[in-house]
Amino acid sequence: MTFGEKLKLLRKSKDLNLHELASRLRVDKSYISQLEHAKARPSEKFIKKVSMLFKTDGNELAILARKIPREIQNLFYENPGAATVVKEELAIYQRKPASAPPKKLNPIFYTKLGELYNVDCMQLLRGLPENSIDSIFADPPFNLGKDYGSKVNDKLEKYDYLGWCYAWLEECCRVLKPNGSLFVYNLPKWNIHIASYLDKFLTFRHWISVDIKFTLPIPKRLYPSHYSLLYFVKGPLPKTFHPSRLPMETCRHCGGEIKDYGGYKNKMNPNGINLTDVWIDIPPVRHAKFKTRGANELSMKLLDRVLDIATDEGDLVLDPFGGSGTTFIVAEIKGRKWIGSEIEDCKPIIERFRKIEDQKDNLEKYRKDLNQLFTKDALKLRKQFGHTTDKYRILEPPTNRNAIQTSFLEENIK
Ligand SMILES: C[S@@+](CC[C@H](N)C(=O)[O-])C[C@H]1O[C@@H](n2cnc3c(N)ncnc32)[C@H](O)[C@@H]1O
Repeated sequence: MTFGEKLKLLRKSKDLNLHELASRLRVDKSYISQLEHAKARPSEKFIKKVSMLFKTDGNELAILARKIPREIQNLFYENPGAATVVKEELAIYQRKPASAPPKKLNPIFYTKLGELYNVDCMQLLRGLPENSIDSIFADPPFNLGKDYGSKVNDKLEKYDYLGWCYAWLEECCRVLKPNGSLFVYNLPKWNIHIASYLDKFLTFRHWISVDIKFTLPIPKRLYPSHYSLLYFVKGPLPKTFHPSRLPMETCRHCGGEIKDYGGYKNKMNPNGINLTDVWIDIPPVRHAKFKTRGANELSMKLLDRVLDIATDEGDLVLDPFGGSGTTFIVAEIKGRKWIGSEIEDCKPIIERFRKIEDQKDNLEKYRKDLNQLFTKDALKLRKQFGHTTDKYRILEPPTNRNAIQTSFLEENIK
């Protein structure tokens, strides 16, 4: 809206004609007409008079007249850094208005548990009902200038990238069920902004550091060595929270403890060590055998852990940025319902589903060590190298991980 349009609205709201308004403001009628048709710019004094006459916010009028109000100018002179903060906050409003969602989208692929859409995630998200998704995992492009295909611009200006992220995040918050959880995987550089945006709508649970080296050392900087995985929940507490337990870290040569558990050995949970917010055991997907799409495929181990933490069988999981389909495959194998979008080629995802048996074996390899204090291999080494294990409470290696979790809960949380 322009200043002239606002002036006309105010005039009409009081049922004044041009002549009447001009005489109240003690100016010529033609000046009012020029202002209303954007043929003149109001002076500061005139803006003040309008604000007083109509009892309306002078700052807003000044901004509509493309003038920065004096107090705000002073504020910026005194705190030059404030301009950056304001620009960042306003990135939220810079997005273009979204077009209406299509009436019906057709999935390009589906299974009994899930549906994949070959569309822009905003189209999918805006067609979903409010409070309909149990858990969301989002791994968007990191704005590093990667080539995902012709439909993705991965080299945006900082505030365009953030504005875009805020747009799909707003939708994610809307479609998430109360007590549902949202995970966002990104570089720390972006997740500091995303966390502060999400904090307005959701409850912060964790900033998880996923220790993966993703670049070569950078001169004059610390060696970047972790991705950030944000974990938020809608409402005060998550509906589901059952993280897996991990085996103790032991020396791969002799099976000895790496950390000192001192006098607490017999108090340690036989189902393993509590999961922390620093994950050092997530492998990058480099091996050609497992890598199913060009760049950026995440390890199934990461998704397995996330879904263990925040979902139950039968829950509905959403991933707006399908990529090679890691979230969908892991959800399918774990009996979660899933829905997602990928704007570029979806063939690699569909192909991956054709080989789901291999993917199951791959996942089982990661899961075999969960929820026990020592892995089978560690126990063997410990015996061989004379590390006693008798102070620890050790269970037989579990066969059904979910069953173990349940029995642990029944046993320990009464
Ligand atoms: C970092 S990758 C995701 C990788 C995925 N987590 C995996 O493990 O395979 C991001 C993906 O988002 C897709 N993408 C980018 N913009 C999109 C949009 N607006 N809607 C849907 N997908 C988009 C890209 O084509 C890319 O495949």
